[in-house]
Amino acid sequence: MRELFLMDVDLRRVPLLETDVLVIGSGIAALEAALAAAETASVLIITKAAPEESNTFYAQGGVAASLSPEDDPEKHIRDTLVAGVGLCDEAAVRKMVLEGRERIRELMAWGVPFDREDGGDIALTLEGGHSSRRVLHAEGDATGKAIAKTVLARVAANPNITLMPGVFAVDLLHHERTCYGAIALEGGGRKRRILRIEARATVLASGGACCIYRETTNPDVATGDGMAMAYRAGATLADMEFVQMHPTTLYLAGARRFLISEAVRGEGAVLVNRRGERFMEKVHPLKDLAPRDIVCRAIMEEMARGSEPNVYLDLSPIPPARIRERFPNILALCAQYGLDITKDRIPVRPAAHYFMGGVRTGLDASTDVRRLFACGEVACVGVHGANRLASNSLLEGLVFGREAGLNAAKIARESQAGFPERTIRRRIERKRIPLDVEDVRRSLRSLVSRACGIYRDGESLANAISMLDFWQQYVYAEEFASPSGFELQNMLQVAQLVARCALSRKESRGAHQRREFPNADDAGWKRHSIVSRLDFEK
Ligand code: SIN
Repeated sequence: MRELFLMDVDLRRVPLLETDVLVIGSGIAALEAALAAAETASVLIITKAAPEESNTFYAQGGVAASLSPEDDPEKHIRDTLVAGVGLCDEAAVRKMVLEGRERIRELMAWGVPFDREDGGDIALTLEGGHSSRRVLHAEGDATGKAIAKTVLARVAANPNITLMPGVFAVDLLHHERTCYGAIALEGGGRKRRILRIEARATVLASGGACCIYRETTNPDVATGDGMAMAYRAGATLADMEFVQMHPTTLYLAGARRFLISEAVRGEGAVLVNRRGERFMEKVHPLKDLAPRDIVCRAIMEEMARGSEPNVYLDLSPIPPARIRERFPNILALCAQYGLDITKDRIPVRPAAHYFMGGVRTGLDASTDVRRLFACGEVACVGVHGANRLASNSLLEGLVFGREAGLNAAKIARESQAGFPERTIRRRIERKRIPLDVEDVRRSLRSLVSRACGIYRDGESLANAISMLDFWQQYVYAEEFASPSGFELQNMLQVAQLVARCALSRKESRGAHQRREFPNADDAGWKRHSIVSRLDFEK
């Protein structure tokens, strides 16, 4: 296992950037962390693409908060714990739900245009697993975009924050389990420039890894870079086998797996098979709004029963005017493919959506590498357990992003600057072989989808691990000149962790379903899966 993916860099020869707090990523957790840290520290944000390229920006449904007089935070906590099937950390859930209300009020004060009812009250919708209407949304189905735009504008206006897009963090600068910043790549190919960014504290908020699956709702940036970097630096990761599939993504040949928000079912749409028959009524008391893992399995079973590649979302219970008002983006996107969703059913099937696992953190967002914090999808603080409750992820990013920023700034105040090493790596034998990065990436995504999808079995997982080991031998030996090669290395690493944790968990729970072990085994497995590179090296 390589500790770093860049070889032989003489740190005296590369440009040095210094900051109190380095934030890696540009989704809501990263932006909240940066704003919080900037209250007392200088902050540098690096992000590998444009700042808008994050899961936050594409989030449709919304953000959950128990704001209505008919709701109660205790109900939100209970719903989250139920969806997480015994693996949520209740203290983390409580913190997210209670502090989340304050963060949402702050977003309102900053000007996020949350949708309102005719009378002026905040509009709240229902999503799967929620026992009350508590999902706030903005601009119909463009909630993430509305939030990201507002918060990015605050970041841009903050004199303590510098934002550098197009800078890819290759590895954390670390020494004896202390993080000193990152080594990064600006540009690609011949124009690439290696940067040494030294920070007194570092916040990883680089998002998830669903691009290891062939079919995903995530933008192309979700390649698990932060999880892989933290693992290489010796941080502990938790619950990597729990990957949430979203039940309803557009299934049309040639179209990307565009998310059809759960809020569509929250407004009354129902799932039907090709014959127009509803099937969720027999499966769960919450019917089409059961927790996501349950809806996904029901869809897969319905597809298998009818030998069909997809099922359908039937929006006929929602008046057309309401569809136009609530889901303008979904309506426009489907129209590009000739579907009029005020009349036509939408063909849908599940696709990879969210990593519940990640870099293990405490409630203060600290990891077990000194001066390294993690928040948002890259992290696992324990709020999602084995299955995330819909619309809890923006809330998590808001609450634990702020926590990470405040604590990183505090540690920065107490720490010396300066990376103690001169080179980031001893010379190792470099191999240059002709490698089609795109081809390996495609093969990896197909393999992960087959072995680590909604249903898993020991034999497929073991075969997948052997194949990943084999690819790893020659892909890890390369030093790449552009981010896509480093992304591939990170994807291989995260795929290995998902497959290994899935093989070792011999039960079914939430998003992890083993064919040979169809039931939950509380006595043996009501516990987190913990992995660390250091354990393999003992
Ligand atoms: C959706 O709009 O269905 C996605 C919301 C989420 O994943 O929390």
